[in-house]
Amino acid sequence: MLYACQDRYGDVFTLRLAHEGTWVILADPEAVKQVFTGDPRVLHAGEGNQILEPFLGRNSLLVLDEKPHMSQRRLLLPPFHGERMQAYGEAMAEIAIREIERWPTATPYELRPRMQAITLDIILRTVFGVEDERRMGELRDALRDFLDLGTNPRMLLPVLLIGPRRVRGIGPVRRRLDRVDGLIRREIAGRRGAADLERREDILSLLVAARHEDGSPMADEEIRDELLTLLVAGHETTATSLAWAVERLARHPEKLGRLRAEAEAGEDDAYLTATIQETLRLRPVISIVLRRLTEPVEIAGHELPAGVSVAPSIYLVHRNPEIYPDPQAFNPERFLDDPPGTYTWIPFGGGVRRCLGASFAQFEMAVVLRELVRRREIRPVDPKPERVFRRAITETPRHNARVVLS
Ligand code: HEM
Repeated sequence: MLYACQDRYGDVFTLRLAHEGTWVILADPEAVKQVFTGDPRVLHAGEGNQILEPFLGRNSLLVLDEKPHMSQRRLLLPPFHGERMQAYGEAMAEIAIREIERWPTATPYELRPRMQAITLDIILRTVFGVEDERRMGELRDALRDFLDLGTNPRMLLPVLLIGPRRVRGIGPVRRRLDRVDGLIRREIAGRRGAADLERREDILSLLVAARHEDGSPMADEEIRDELLTLLVAGHETTATSLAWAVERLARHPEKLGRLRAEAEAGEDDAYLTATIQETLRLRPVISIVLRRLTEPVEIAGHELPAGVSVAPSIYLVHRNPEIYPDPQAFNPERFLDDPPGTYTWIPFGGGVRRCLGASFAQFEMAVVLRELVRRREIRPVDPKPERVFRRAITETPRHNARVVLS
């Protein structure tokens, strides 16, 4: 449909969606740049995410705008700096190897759920900082149950019927949230009293040590909201991107071979990096980002009124043949000499709302893919590409990246 609209109306067109209001889809990199560099007071992203508030809480970075958003983002940014990610590499590799070694060979196997197990454990270790097996197991179960709320149609229906505000009143929702909250509070309390707090590198410890501009520490409630936000924003997205990388590589044995040769030589990650960039270009797990206008704005020659949402289309920008020749082809080589452009490669959105975990996610994908291709040969069960299938908000491979490993 996006293609059909683009053919008919060009790079800027309007969709009017039931319950969502008016979306102006933008496929032109200049317009996308204008949105990503525009005034955050005029371009609200948090407003569009209100449905998440009952689950993630009122301090969640995802639901805030303007000053409250910027001050919360300032607290969360330092742990996500590029170099810091290196410290997490060992834990990530250990978790990935343990999973991969358990996967069956010589039989069709769906990798997306297994990638979810990997990314969940990585978040528990690096974000929540939990190492103890028993506590890890408790949190894993409670968080899985909580995350299932987002994809379980029996849960989504009541949200639509009674509205997100009252959703906490529903028994199964409340029970799950209470269990998660209890376990997270225990972790926060334990960390506040930890003797080794200053030496710890997990993100929870860094948040416990972080200070607002007035010097005050983050409240338990704030930390709780941000931990769940990082989980929800970072778990499914990264797992699905990994599943897509496998789905594409399995159908391109020559690219897989090149990647494996590089991983085995262990000198350089250029091809691995390009493979990840190309996967995120061709199969972005999130296809648009939204900003609601608080004032009238002119974008790409159109006067847009307050109240409409502008929506940079990750999907269409990534398939523009002028930017990406032969756009449907999976071709990591295209990024070897030409690094991705700020407004033409936008799987992580952009501007002051750009994905906080972008470096973390790409680093994590690199660690997991490297360990996988070093250990296993991968073939598709069906040579036809898997179709894009939408689950809640992410675009996933229809058959969960079904492959045969050997
Ligand atoms: C391949 C994996 C991922 C993809 C494709 C992805 C994509 C995105 C996108 C498209 C946005 C919205 C950007 C915008 O509105 O301009 C976003 C926001 C966000 N992401 Fe990610 N993400 C990924 C992984 C992660 C990880 C691993 C974390 C943290 C551990 C994370 C944390 C966040 C947060 C906190 C925001 C909200 C930022 C804000 O509103 O200021 N993401 N992500």
